Amino acid sequence: MKITYIESSRIFKIDTLQNSYCIGITDEERFLTHVYYGSSVSDDDLTYLLRTDENPFAPSKNARDRGSFLDCCPMEYPGNGVGDYRESAVSVEDSNGNSAVQFYYTGHRIMEGKKKLEGLPATFGEEDKSATLEIDLEDPVLQLQVTLSYCIFEDSDAIMRSARLRNASDAPLYLTKVMSLSLDMDQKDFSLLTLHGSWARERQMDYRTIGYGRQSVSSVRGESSHQEHPFIGLVSESATQESGSVYGIHFVYSGNFLAQVEKNQFDSLRVSMGIHPENFRYRLMPGETFQTPEAVMVYSENGLGGMSRIFHDLYRNHLIRSPYKDRKRPILINNWEATYFDFDTDKLIAIAKQAKEDGIEMLVMDDGWFGHRNDDNTSLGDWKVNEEKLRGGLGHLVDEVNRIGLKFGIWFEPEMISPDSDLYRAHPEWAIAVPGRIPCRMRNQYVLDLSRQDVRDYVYESVAVILRSTNIAYVKWDMNRQLSDLGSAFLDRENQGELCHRYMLGVYELQERLVTEFPQLLLENCSGGGARFDPGMLYYSPQIWCSDDTDAIERLSIQEGTALLFPLSTMGAHVSDCPNHTVGRSTPFETRGNVALAGTFGYELDITRIPEADRAQIPGQVALYHKYNDLVRSGDYYRIASYRENHYYDCYGVISKDKTEALITCVQVMGRPNVHSRRICVPGLDPKKRYRIEGTDQILHGDTLMHAGLQMKAMWGDFQSELIHLIAE
Ligand code: DGJ
Repeated sequence: MKITYIESSRIFKIDTLQNSYCIGITDEERFLTHVYYGSSVSDDDLTYLLRTDENPFAPSKNARDRGSFLDCCPMEYPGNGVGDYRESAVSVEDSNGNSAVQFYYTGHRIMEGKKKLEGLPATFGEEDKSATLEIDLEDPVLQLQVTLSYCIFEDSDAIMRSARLRNASDAPLYLTKVMSLSLDMDQKDFSLLTLHGSWARERQMDYRTIGYGRQSVSSVRGESSHQEHPFIGLVSESATQESGSVYGIHFVYSGNFLAQVEKNQFDSLRVSMGIHPENFRYRLMPGETFQTPEAVMVYSENGLGGMSRIFHDLYRNHLIRSPYKDRKRPILINNWEATYFDFDTDKLIAIAKQAKEDGIEMLVMDDGWFGHRNDDNTSLGDWKVNEEKLRGGLGHLVDEVNRIGLKFGIWFEPEMISPDSDLYRAHPEWAIAVPGRIPCRMRNQYVLDLSRQDVRDYVYESVAVILRSTNIAYVKWDMNRQLSDLGSAFLDRENQGELCHRYMLGVYELQERLVTEFPQLLLENCSGGGARFDPGMLYYSPQIWCSDDTDAIERLSIQEGTALLFPLSTMGAHVSDCPNHTVGRSTPFETRGNVALAGTFGYELDITRIPEADRAQIPGQVALYHKYNDLVRSGDYYRIASYRENHYYDCYGVISKDKTEALITCVQVMGRPNVHSRRICVPGLDPKKRYRIEGTDQILHGDTLMHAGLQMKAMWGDFQSELIHLIAE
């Protein structure tokens, strides 16, 4: 890890474990330019790559013809409306209504450590094991200053970027676009990789050719969303799972985003990532600053798998803060798919008793315990226990569950308000709405205006009072609709364009307060399944509910897309009943368990009513969780085969960091006639070590398993699965 400034060539060089990132400053104009990002390079003077010499139009040489230079020069943080027609990083409305902005280098600092981003989730590291480069830029006309931050950690190949803008003028400025990152590079042979989805079908991998013009994924839904994910990957044509060039850029933010790549007339690429400019207009008063969220850049020469493992380690070591992050999570049973809204104390206690007998460790009471919520039309905001359902109150239920020997967890949806609620009747102005318009209902609810301190305080106290009242070990924080009808009764005309961002800051503030007051709480984020499964939320909760689709086969591609970026320890995964409530498919109980073992592991079914043959398998699955979870949580993830590509079977492995143990999961999705056994090559082992295949007498060297492979037995029928455990001798 090293950050240097080479005075003679005016080059900044950021060196991580295996990569270099270089930024230059042009001769006379002092534009900040992008020079190089990729595998480590030894030379310091890379100015020859800037193309200023080959370009007769460089402004220092031919001031008259600045335009042709600006439109092709690789800029590190491009301005707007002054001759660079590619995507700008910033757009500003000044007091005359103009939007032009152009930045020039004014100074820099190289420091130990990494600063916190005020009010925002961000990666963190120890002072002497991290380093930061801050580069100052200024638009002298607007007197708008920008500080670009580049942070690195000793043990990681990721580079974290963000920007801080300061209005140094004496008039207000309106930011209408502020990207966290802009990255220029030549197009080689990259395809664009993104994650798309829908409710119950989150984070599906999608490749496309990069054509001329702009291609993006985004969200203007007020959440990172089911539909598109704040990630962009550039994947070289020749890249495989374990070799070849891959760039991955991920946004540590949970609200509106834009992630875009633009291919221009010279076959150069510009990647942009930041808060989506739509509905964004942020007033910056004289002296005020605006901090962008953080974007994480990863480059790997070791294919997609190499990229995934860099993200996984980064998030495990430098983003998740929970005391649970390195701990086994209690195996939970959640009553949502078991009972939906139809439950009472007796029902929950019956589930808890049977769950205890089978080795489950925590009961989670989901939606429907408050107000008069017997369906999803009512009561959000009225966080008072429904004593008709929970006779004797919440404390009584929790005591009983604890007496049975289980921890207790509870569901909230703190950001929402039902039109049919005492809260809405008292405070209709607390809902996000545009005056004169009836706001659009989704799941028959509105969103609370979390830009308001009074609303945040109410919401916080509603949750905290319950948590203070009894022994609650876990909270599932849900969010079941997107933002619309953007209007706040609290913000004035000048600040309305800040609502979505202030909403997000409000959510972060609430969760920060929660984990500060209840440091031992296990918090699981959720958003109608996995609509807010993003690095921002991971800063507050070590796990996030992956999807409302609990079908083991659907989960294969959802979990594959999620594990492209997120460690397995973060993926909420449960065994549910069949036929599956979302897709109607029936799969063997064993396969449901094997697939859920790749995540946090739990159950989402009525354990008192499922077939005895299924229930009888639970103690065995619980034992597998205890046996493998340390490995699954902390090991290196390898994607071996993808059902998404071969339409036939799925296979992935987790290998311990010291390479003494591996767990391979193989799921045969489609049975085939006349099949023979299949060879599975296991990457990532120690070639010299000898591994015993558990349950057999076979011992093989790592290199044999890596190159010649394992012989997996032929499986008969659909939806079969197998776990293979390798242990070094
Ligand atoms: C959506 C979640 O994803 C489900 O698990 C469940 O908690 C429901 N909301 C409850 O309304």
